Amino acid sequence: MSHAILISNNIILNDLYSLNLKAYVDTNVTIKEDLSEALKLIVMKPHIDLVVCTSTIDGEDVIEKLISTLKASEIDVPIIAIGEEVKVSDWEVYFLPPFLNVNKFVKTAGEALGVTARMMVDKIVPEYYPIPIRLFRSFSKTPCEIFHLISKGSREKEYSKIIDKDGEIREKVTKYIELGVECFFVYSHDRLKVVNEISNSIVNRLDDKSLSSEEKAIAVETGFEVVASQMSGNDEMTESMVQISKKCVENIKDMIKEVPKIRHILKMLMDNKSSYVYQHNILGTYVARHILENIEWGSEEHAEKLGFTFFFHDIFLMPIFTKYPDIKNEEDLFFSEKLSEKEKDLVLNHARLAGEIVKTFPRCPMGADAIITQHHGTSAGVGIAVDFKDDISPLAKVMIISEEFVNEMFKQKESGNKKYNLDDILDILYDKFTRHTYKRILKTLETIQV
Ligand SMILES: [Fe+2]
Ligand SMILES: [Fe+2]
Repeated sequence: MSHAILISNNIILNDLYSLNLKAYVDTNVTIKEDLSEALKLIVMKPHIDLVVCTSTIDGEDVIEKLISTLKASEIDVPIIAIGEEVKVSDWEVYFLPPFLNVNKFVKTAGEALGVTARMMVDKIVPEYYPIPIRLFRSFSKTPCEIFHLISKGSREKEYSKIIDKDGEIREKVTKYIELGVECFFVYSHDRLKVVNEISNSIVNRLDDKSLSSEEKAIAVETGFEVVASQMSGNDEMTESMVQISKKCVENIKDMIKEVPKIRHILKMLMDNKSSYVYQHNILGTYVARHILENIEWGSEEHAEKLGFTFFFHDIFLMPIFTKYPDIKNEEDLFFSEKLSEKEKDLVLNHARLAGEIVKTFPRCPMGADAIITQHHGTSAGVGIAVDFKDDISPLAKVMIISEEFVNEMFKQKESGNKKYNLDDILDILYDKFTRHTYKRILKTLETIQV
């Protein structure tokens, strides 16, 4: 059994990373939410094999201080840093992007600890396996039998079954937390199933109202990543994909309503180092909501429908954006020479494919599939329109304009503007969308708060 110190004040990631380290690479984790506490612990020279940290905590740089403390204490261990990459010399540091990717994280931890994939699978595990009780808060029914440890002195252990498979779990969790119990136990052969379910349902913790907007935004992004990663290879939405995406869409709506200006949301997403697709989804949803609140025929139902379509519209592009991190927007993706033929094909057809898969969403909002299919202005969902016509649905037009508005904001940001210039954005859009129906939509954006 190896030991790791995890330095991060992100409660969602802490639970998830420590759980996965324990499950896949047999590593016990000590969590320190505060950097100085963590450094104090290191100075005491505990037995550690790995340090996992976020690059910064509350704006304070972690890595430099961490390395100098490790050097001074003569502890030579690898570091996995989550967040922005910084230059380090003479230390083994693995940098990972800030959004959650459990597979990549586990693989990297395995590499850092010298554990091979084979060993991860073959790992001999105890008959019962502990899982932090609070992670069960997102479950209403258990995926497997759950046990409670009755301690009988330090040598002897006895486990008693407290919940059957598919049993109700909520009340038991509350009760045992009140009793001060920290872990439930499952059979070892069930552990990966439980870990996966927990990873998948992590967004349920968004119900926890004490989460800050930043934490909420990270959790929604986690959910988005989980759904996106399950897209390829599936012809239809699985139950877990449906559940996660519903929660995400609801939370995006709440997040948007909490901020008065679009730039506040953009700043938060930038600070979180969110991916392009995710930023673009959230901001697009914001702009679309503004349009629908201000156009005479708009309604709350329409705004919610577009919240749904934004979540899915570019989901098939996620793997390509991940593979080519220097491509920063959809337009460049369409014209990039780097992509393979297969990838180009996926880009050309991403609107059609997303439209098709959301049809399998139970009670899919009416017409959402068509809006997604038409989100680049073509009625069949292949390629992008050069001339924006009237042969698509009015809500697809709202979506297209919202996307373009966000793209122009990104362009202004990239060109170094400190403030957004609404007039400049609108001038460009009025030039691009010349038809009357589009202009009516654009008119509503004259009052948006940037
Ligand atoms: Fe898009
Ligand atoms: Fe798209």
